[in-house]
Amino acid sequence: MVEFSLLTEEDQTFTSQDLLGNYWVMYFYPKAGTSGCTLEAQQFNELFEQFDGHVIGVSPDSTKSLSSFKEKHGLKFTLLSDPNKELAQALEIVKNGKLIRSTFIVDPWGRIRREWINVKVDGHAQEVFEVYRKIREEDFSINPSILQRRAFRGLRSDPIEDEKLLRLIEAAHLAPSCSNKQPWRFIVVRTKENLEKLHEALSGGNYWMKYAPALIIVHTKDEFDCQLSDERNYALFDTGLAVGFLLVQATQMGLVAHPVAGYDPIKVKTLFGIDGRVITLVAVGKWGRFEQLSEKHLELEKSPRNRVELSQVVKLV
Ligand SMILES: Cc1cc2nc3c(=O)[nH]c(=O)nc-3n(C[C@H](O)[C@H](O)[C@H](O)COP(=O)(O)O)c2cc1C
Repeated sequence: MVEFSLLTEEDQTFTSQDLLGNYWVMYFYPKAGTSGCTLEAQQFNELFEQFDGHVIGVSPDSTKSLSSFKEKHGLKFTLLSDPNKELAQALEIVKNGKLIRSTFIVDPWGRIRREWINVKVDGHAQEVFEVYRKIREEDFSINPSILQRRAFRGLRSDPIEDEKLLRLIEAAHLAPSCSNKQPWRFIVVRTKENLEKLHEALSGGNYWMKYAPALIIVHTKDEFDCQLSDERNYALFDTGLAVGFLLVQATQMGLVAHPVAGYDPIKVKTLFGIDGRVITLVAVGKWGRFEQLSEKHLELEKSPRNRVELSQVVKLV
């Protein structure tokens, strides 16, 4: 949403900042009191509670005429006056000097999520409500890539482009860290020679990683991050966050990214000249080849996700 500051029908200032943190419907109409604008206002008014009160009407009318329009029709929501159509222009809904009847759904981050330009009034508020409800429902569901992600082992050996591998690192690098120390370090192993070298360090149970076209060595050092009281050394924590981001990004890109602890860290460090801690290796590849898997792993590949009850890991106090 563009930044703005306008007056309400009560001559109070209302700014774009007031929209943040909630879902809003902002609808623009040409002139208070005309039949179309009255019907539209009444229909939004009827749905006021369903919108959790987060409806706002904007028009070029003066605050005075907005005040009498609101009173006359018992409107529950705030009306904003945009006398010079500055906000309307910024939203590109002014044509030949006239405001085009339009509606926007704005999310808690101030992003416009849906727009209707050149609105037909009757039934419009109901249609907006259906979309508003759907957007909220989708936003409140678990992120689809988090839901889809699994520690899959059935990897195809098809190479993955460097561009995609680097996109995973980019996502990891957007993780938060203590004082923004960014302690994570990655070595993306994807040439045949280097992969074979790394295979020597894998534990027997991680034989399936030999089919991965890329293995990412994740390493860090305590000195790279905050070292606070009570042994709170944040390098491992922050590097773990980064790996979490990497896994979610990979899933979104249709790739498996599977972190493991089953390897000889000393061997990895020696082979790749790493100083510090090798905290995980992440196998990356496309899913869909299962012939190489042991019976146990094949079964796991198709098994439902296994988690203890949520109540065992959380307390609401
Ligand atoms: C730190 C860590 C170490 C892991 N080590 C191994 C491993 O050595 N070999 C393996 O096959 N899977 C390994 N996994 C995968 C876990 O077994 C898997 O994430 C867990 O069973 C939950 O399954 P899900 O990821 O499909 O939800 C590891 C996962 C993590 C986070």
